[in-house]
Amino acid sequence: LWLVLGIRKRESGEPPLENGLIPYLGCALQYGANPLDFLRGREQKYGSIFTCKIAGNFVHFVTDPFSFGPVLRAGRHFDWHQFHYATAAKVFGHSSMDPNQNAQTEDMHDKFMRAMEGDALEPLIVSMMEKLQLIMLEPNSVKLTSKEWVTDGLYAFCYRVMFESSYLSLFGNDFKDNPSAARQAAQRALILNAMENFKEFDKIFPALVAGLPIHVFKTARNARERLAKDLMQEKLRKRSNLSDIVILRMFLNDSFANLNEMDKAKIQLALLWASLANTIPATFWTVFHLLRCPRTMKAANEEVKQVLEKASQKVTAGGKLITLTREQLDDMPILDSMIKESLRLSSASLNVRVAKENFTLNLDTSNSFKIRKDDIVAFYPQLIHLDPEVYDDPLEFKYDRFLNENLEPKTDFYLRGRKLKYYYLPFGSGKTKCPGRHVAVYEIKQMITLFLSYFDIEYVDKNVKIPPLDQSRAGLGILQPTHDVNFRYKLKEHLSP
Ligand code: HEM
Repeated sequence: LWLVLGIRKRESGEPPLENGLIPYLGCALQYGANPLDFLRGREQKYGSIFTCKIAGNFVHFVTDPFSFGPVLRAGRHFDWHQFHYATAAKVFGHSSMDPNQNAQTEDMHDKFMRAMEGDALEPLIVSMMEKLQLIMLEPNSVKLTSKEWVTDGLYAFCYRVMFESSYLSLFGNDFKDNPSAARQAAQRALILNAMENFKEFDKIFPALVAGLPIHVFKTARNARERLAKDLMQEKLRKRSNLSDIVILRMFLNDSFANLNEMDKAKIQLALLWASLANTIPATFWTVFHLLRCPRTMKAANEEVKQVLEKASQKVTAGGKLITLTREQLDDMPILDSMIKESLRLSSASLNVRVAKENFTLNLDTSNSFKIRKDDIVAFYPQLIHLDPEVYDDPLEFKYDRFLNENLEPKTDFYLRGRKLKYYYLPFGSGKTKCPGRHVAVYEIKQMITLFLSYFDIEYVDKNVKIPPLDQSRAGLGILQPTHDVNFRYKLKEHLSP
């Protein structure tokens, strides 16, 4: 009967086990309703490792951050990518690139990761700085002056600015040099259209990850297909200024015999999604806290001013664009700390690995646990990000939380009197760490630098409240706000044309 119901019996040496009450789903509903509360409750009951049946899988949650190192070092027992490939294929609808089905995949994956963290990074930063300025200074159908305030939703603003800039930086434009105004406007309309499709598709992302088939969601399915069609490699080849990562992705895609042209387009769509789905809410939260707290605003303004002065950059309207090198962007510890603090408060990702064999996992506590083949081992970093012993007043935004007295990055955080190595994990860990993490931080710094340099900005409601996090996306990355907040902006006085 146990076998029929998919219920497992705890064997000796295995972590405490909860099968849940519902066949197949197990604890999925309770976990899904609020992962943080669910895991805190189970940790209290069972200790720092326990197993829950969730939607047919047995997941061993490791909650003690001192045990993350031992799990990451047990890498040879895990298949790092199986889960990711299967999820990506399910959500984006392309054929599987599972390394078990294609021996080259692992090597290709490493090449791609290295490029994103290495040679491809600098040109992407340069392009992003240019695109951000063009887009911020030329909003659709409103005139920016130093006299008239423009009112907008802050989330809507961050969405549009980051989407348009990233799309152009990654996938280039559909004209060569010196395009006419009409050509540029047509290109813009296409990207804004892609943005609406992206929103439609992203709305059902959690449902797709949970296993619901996309044909249940007709509008979102059409939106996904339209987005992918724009990214067909045959179309991309006709565009100029494609980024190095997109060119590399095209080359890698072409080396898989089993992928058809639509599969390749959907893999490019996965890259577009990965580059934006977390970066947009991360930008929103950083700007949101910045505008809300005068101390934070003052510190950020001073840092931005100083960096621009050191780099001999003058802010002008309609003239020369601001440029900052990677080294100059690296020299912004206050913005770094603000971004970290915003991600600490809004990140809710699940780090997952699949056991490829039966093995014994030795944890920090010198306890050992038996893990079965195909079981999942997972961390939920929000447990640490919001632990009051690691971060005092964990729900408070403190822009300088990640700075020491000398305004250098603070790296000493403690739990039970011991210094932690893993205290900040919004970008994942080990082999599945986000390859775009440097790009993301540079992009947010660039956006804030430009935003503060060109505009006067304020909230419409001076006593704006922090919007709640949308928990329906818990487990998937940076959480979005449940509602937008209105703000207004105008060109700084001395920049008026
Ligand atoms: C994967 C977070 C921005 C590209 C991941 C993962 C996390 C993450 C947690 C691992 C997911 C997993 O374990 O399956 C973030 C956050 C970002 C951000 C918090 C912004 C604040 C970006 C950007 C890019 C990017 C800007 C590209 C330019 C990717 C890619 C993967 C990934 C390609 C998949 C890697 C793989 O196949 O293993 N990201 N990311 N990310 N991210 Fe990011």
